[in-house]
Amino acid sequence: MEGVIDFAMREQLTAGGSYDHAVTEFIRVNDHLLSKSQFIKYAPELLRGGRTVSGTPVYIQLLGQDKNWMAENANRAAMLGAPGIDLNFGCPAKTVNNHRGGSILLTEPSTVHNIVREVRNAVPKDIPVTVKMRLGYEDKSLAIENALAIEAAGATSLAIHARTKAEGYKPPAHWHWIAKIKKHVTLPVVANGEIWSKEDAMNCIRESECMDIMIGRGGLSLPNLSDVIKKDADPLSWKETCMLLVQYAQARRDVKNRNLVPNRIKQWCRYLMRQYNEADTFCKEIRTIRRYEEIMDIINRNYL
Ligand SMILES: Cc1cc2nc3c(=O)[nH]c(=O)nc-3n(C[C@H](O)[C@H](O)[C@H](O)COP(=O)(O)O)c2cc1C
Repeated sequence: MEGVIDFAMREQLTAGGSYDHAVTEFIRVNDHLLSKSQFIKYAPELLRGGRTVSGTPVYIQLLGQDKNWMAENANRAAMLGAPGIDLNFGCPAKTVNNHRGGSILLTEPSTVHNIVREVRNAVPKDIPVTVKMRLGYEDKSLAIENALAIEAAGATSLAIHARTKAEGYKPPAHWHWIAKIKKHVTLPVVANGEIWSKEDAMNCIRESECMDIMIGRGGLSLPNLSDVIKKDADPLSWKETCMLLVQYAQARRDVKNRNLVPNRIKQWCRYLMRQYNEADTFCKEIRTIRRYEEIMDIINRNYL
């Protein structure tokens, strides 16, 4: 998730080992080949065989509209050791869509097809090329056509966020639409959207008729949600979650941007409020604080 799930967050969230794979934030591809250091910036895991410390493979997520540059960059990522490539056709951001990236491409299934095909051809066969789409841009009329285009291009699997771009993040996610699409394709389909608990996961699996699910915001709101779903683990306590906050902050502390850690903690805290009553108080306590040290002090004093 762009601007949220960076390498340090991936470390925290995959620690239990229940995710089959994680995905980087999207790397924007325009009209040139990105350097090795740019890939490493988004995915330092490349220096460790493309895996988090817990061993979870981290796929490199690319977002772009030019099939040739997408292919070139996917190939470079693969050569750098990426265990998988993930292509983004779901991003709803205006600036991205205005430059023909993300969900706007769902209005052109043939362009989607061509990008996926070129990337598939540019990447060694044993490296998965996964694709993510929404149900459409303004409406769902091209949902099946896009899924067929992605399958015909040779994608390894297709994750579907069960909403259109126009529907944004407004609940509900239309899981039954994924089942509808699934009837037309044979590639593995992964259901995504509004999974915040084990119960949601079970309902999503039933309604979408998918064996596999993808978790986004739910994994931030309950950091061991994947273990809760897959291994019936107990949800992390607030204290355990605070320890993750500290570890995350320490891992990102050396970044040049001094506001980054406080801002990221505040952002994460807003997701945690959905799961933990204590997060509400914590959020209020740190709202106006800009120094890393002060936030750590509050966590240490009040919550650990
Ligand atoms: C802040 C934010 C950043 C996101 N970044 C990405 C991204 O880089 N790539 C992507 O495919 N989806 C991205 N998404 C969408 C999520 O992956 C997911 O499809 C969506 O949030 C619905 O699933 P959820 O209800 O489990 O969160 C992002 C969502 C949010 C809220």
